[in-house]
Amino acid sequence: MTAKQDNLILAFESSADETSAAVVKNGHEILSNIVATQIASHQRFGGIVPEVASRHHLEWINRVTKEALQEASVTDPAAQLSAVAATYGPGLVGSLLIGLMAGKTFAMVHDLPFIAVNHLAGHISAANFVQPTSYPAMAVMVSGGHTELLWMAKENSFQIIGTTLDDAAGEAFDKVGRILGLNYPAGKEMQEMAAKGQANIHFPIAHTENTFDFSFSGLKSSVLNYVHHADQLSEQINKNDVAASFQKAVVEAIIEKTEAAIQVFQPVQLLLGGGVAANLALRTAIEHLAQTYHLKLTEAPISLAGDNAAMIGAAAYLNFKAGRFSGLDLNTDPSLNFSRM
Ligand code: KG4
Ligand code: ZN
Repeated sequence: MTAKQDNLILAFESSADETSAAVVKNGHEILSNIVATQIASHQRFGGIVPEVASRHHLEWINRVTKEALQEASVTDPAAQLSAVAATYGPGLVGSLLIGLMAGKTFAMVHDLPFIAVNHLAGHISAANFVQPTSYPAMAVMVSGGHTELLWMAKENSFQIIGTTLDDAAGEAFDKVGRILGLNYPAGKEMQEMAAKGQANIHFPIAHTENTFDFSFSGLKSSVLNYVHHADQLSEQINKNDVAASFQKAVVEAIIEKTEAAIQVFQPVQLLLGGGVAANLALRTAIEHLAQTYHLKLTEAPISLAGDNAAMIGAAAYLNFKAGRFSGLDLNTDPSLNFSRM
């Protein structure tokens, strides 16, 4: 392998219901980012069906790869690329296997080094497309499957200081959306309804034993109780008000825990990533929090908040710089996480 002036990484992401391939230059410039979403296939089931997801990944992976290479003008992968990366966890095993196998095979065929990426590190690294991170940093990772407060003492170092004890933030949006009759995934539509409503219903925020942990299942139950109660009395509910009140409670919970963590850990930088980072109410609240504590803030761009391979390429570049490569015998790790502090 000869040293290249620019390091291009071909990255794969297939942990849930998006099949994606991207070419990322030097960890912060997107040359291509092709995302094939399967959402429509899963909607009729109200959530991701793992078996269906794997089959779709298998159908799409070669097409998104070809397109990602074409769009980035990569015609000679061995000469132009520096490495190949893929998500190896956390996620659905059958889904992860497709992207990981594609990545390892591509690396082997073109004699390129292979880099395994943690999906959560990918979400956090989406911030690198905006500006470089300053350390120590506190990352707020909120997605459909995860809700974590992560302490980053230095680059590419992640320690969990708080996590959800039950539902993830995005999962709560999806479940409450379902109660209100919305399709999966409901986060974006909930946000739109919330914008039309008033947050005039009190839904309680759970208090957890560890100050930095989250719990959203009680919140979901209180929305369910509110809706059932109104049903029994044949009262009409204002769904927009329910959405606004629920969203306010979720945002307040995230901000409350993040603020407590800022006070204890004193980071210089805040990072916001994960699918729920697309939520405008959350973005406004975290911007306000960062201002209050005079912290630098980087939010994942809304277009890169959900699952995509570009963020995996950004995270892979950090491993590339550190010389952290993986063997081609690497397996998936569906319940991969960071260690708890
Ligand atoms: O990160 P992501 O694409 O997939 C996982 O790794 O889980 O996150 C998807 C989640 C879904 O639960 C979806 O409802 C939620 O992100 N989401 C939102 C918004 N956009 C997506 N939640 C609240 N507000 C949004 N605007
Ligand atoms: Zn994700």
